[in-house]
Amino acid sequence: MLVVKEIKELQELIRKKKEEGNTVGFVPTMGALHPGHLSLVNIAGQQSDFVVVSIFVNPTQFNDKNDLINYPRTLERDLSLLDPTACQLVFAPEVATMYPEEDKRQFNFGKLEQVMEGQFRPGHFNGVAQVVSKLFDMVKPDKAFFGLKDFQQLVIIKALVKQLSMPIEIVPCPIMREEDGLAMSSRNQRLSPEQRENAPHIYQTLKEARNKASEMSVKELKQWVVSTIDQNPYLQTEYFEITDDEDLNAVERWEDPLNKVGCVAVHCGEIRLIDNIVFE
Ligand code: PAF
Repeated sequence: MLVVKEIKELQELIRKKKEEGNTVGFVPTMGALHPGHLSLVNIAGQQSDFVVVSIFVNPTQFNDKNDLINYPRTLERDLSLLDPTACQLVFAPEVATMYPEEDKRQFNFGKLEQVMEGQFRPGHFNGVAQVVSKLFDMVKPDKAFFGLKDFQQLVIIKALVKQLSMPIEIVPCPIMREEDGLAMSSRNQRLSPEQRENAPHIYQTLKEARNKASEMSVKELKQWVVSTIDQNPYLQTEYFEITDDEDLNAVERWEDPLNKVGCVAVHCGEIRLIDNIVFE
């Protein structure tokens, strides 16, 4: 497994691999890797000949400075986790390499960036689009792999490649969960033992909500989810929304012929956790 920090080196290695007829699969990450990331790498390895992983904590997508400062940075550990996987090349640039000057680009994803995460994390998706568009341009992958935990991000990345006419297939990958159901996230590392013990209540509530969907209206169920999560003294719901899986329009009636996803953001102390569940 090769590790590079410079764009030229990255592009040269990928160019050679492509010339040899290999397809390129790409997994962008911010490091602090966990089995969820490794499952993306594994899927990338099944679907492509040459797998590139980027590790870069992107400052432009953090609307909360403390979150950026406290985001775990564990490069050596990340590299040892990636070594036995399908990953063949790691790109771990410095901030100055990715942003030699301020990125002033403003993307417009319309409604997709105004709801849910977009409403509570202003500028977040613009920062994601800035870094992912740069990375896609550098790596030029055939396929890129994203976890379904960041469901809204996935929808926006699909819109991004469409807007920029990039010939990249975006592959959604299943949410990986701990044994107690908590969705895997780099932020879980920052939970105290008590918070960690209580955080699975989020997914337990989402699962129960799916079972209750036939008994309540959409509006009643949304209220039920928020009040049930908030009954736990360690958790405070920021939003729970049920949307369709393409345009992120709020679902109003169960009869609406849409694929429905229930998305939640919850504060657990200072840590903000997100999760989602498909309503069938
Ligand atoms: O999902 C993430 O880890 C980040 O948002 C991404 C896609 C790597 C961009 O920094």
